[in-house]
Amino acid sequence: MDKETVKIGLLGSGTIGGGVIALLNRNGSEISEKIDVNLVLGKVADRDLSRLQALRLPEEIISTKAVDVLEDPEIDVVIELIGGIEPARSMIISALDNGKHVVTANKDLMAAYGEELLSLARDKNLNIYYEASVGGGIPLIRPLKQSLIADRICRLVGIVNGTTNYIFTRMAQDNLSLEEALSEAKKLGFAEADPSSDIEGRDAAYKLMILSRLAFGSSIDPGQVYVEGISAVTDQDIAYAREIGFTVKLLAIGEKMPEGLALRVHPALVPLEHPLASVLNEFNAIYIEGDAIGEVMFYGRGAGAMPTATAVLADVAEAARSIRYNCAGAVSEKSFQKASFVPIKDLNNRFYLRFLADDRPGVFAALANAFGDEQVSLDMVIQKRRVDSTAEIVLVTHDVREEAFHRAFKKVMSIPSIKPNPSMIRLLG
Ligand code: HSE
Repeated sequence: MDKETVKIGLLGSGTIGGGVIALLNRNGSEISEKIDVNLVLGKVADRDLSRLQALRLPEEIISTKAVDVLEDPEIDVVIELIGGIEPARSMIISALDNGKHVVTANKDLMAAYGEELLSLARDKNLNIYYEASVGGGIPLIRPLKQSLIADRICRLVGIVNGTTNYIFTRMAQDNLSLEEALSEAKKLGFAEADPSSDIEGRDAAYKLMILSRLAFGSSIDPGQVYVEGISAVTDQDIAYAREIGFTVKLLAIGEKMPEGLALRVHPALVPLEHPLASVLNEFNAIYIEGDAIGEVMFYGRGAGAMPTATAVLADVAEAARSIRYNCAGAVSEKSFQKASFVPIKDLNNRFYLRFLADDRPGVFAALANAFGDEQVSLDMVIQKRRVDSTAEIVLVTHDVREEAFHRAFKKVMSIPSIKPNPSMIRLLG
């Protein structure tokens, strides 16, 4: 049945929730005009009454109980901005059980339970919209679901974590250590009080899962993504990288190979001429390669209240249109297919290595043997600096299978003149 007015219920009135309300106040009538549906904020729930009161909303639309949103028969679309797995997951299930479309910014939940929740929504001829779960305000989910549908995506490479990108930018531009850059990021509000999910790469891995499901149409579990964080990268590595024409970024990479999907998150040396190299500070970008479109890149603010609110309200607008025109299933994903996965040990990569060694005869001969034995070919060798009377050696390999590289690396580290604690970073191929 056609509907002229669509009522929104909001769960969670924190930073993003506040942004959604502010943007609705600012642009709500324009959005309603554009979609020919009257959008009305019907109810807002948050456990924290003082947070609700600070929003200065009419008393009759605020509540400290989620159930007042979930079971209100007048609410058509529920926006979930609570975050985390529970109670967000149960609330989304309850919203669907009550016949409501759902809009969420919850990447942890969509990564871990997205397939289950989307399937539940589909069975009920409802939709879950999650544009805000990856890349804040950058349109990514909709382009992957709709605009690029005619293409076969072979690879996506993303800078999808603003905290780590800010840290690497400050390390490169101002010679800060990782700890100093992280503390700046916290001061400026780009890093959370507990940034472990960002630093350890988990945040990027969740986002990679969400994007890769859509890009490759495949079902993905968290265990199928290789994850390596940024804590081993030093300011010396970043300085050497620049010297040889690269910058360092935390990348989320999804590739469709003949043998299956390869999904990984790790720091990587990116050539300075690559479009991703110019993505600085807290900005995010996703570079997609398709067999017909070629390369396409999406760039913008990957977090923050107002950028994320634009994605949330765009989803609300799409849900409202689907209610108005009675076409809820039109943009739902079909179920994701089982896929084969290629473990990282079977991939080919180039590697950057930096380590200290005693400066005496035979060291390079031993290195050459260790690499030569495993058929690892070197592309670049630098030795020009001394650190506490030891030589600092930097090597870059040609493309090599990970397994073979690691065997050679192990042999290198067992050479008595080589000091422990090397740096090892892959290159973007
Ligand atoms: N903590 C994330 C980042 C933003 O630094 O990009 C939320 O996904």
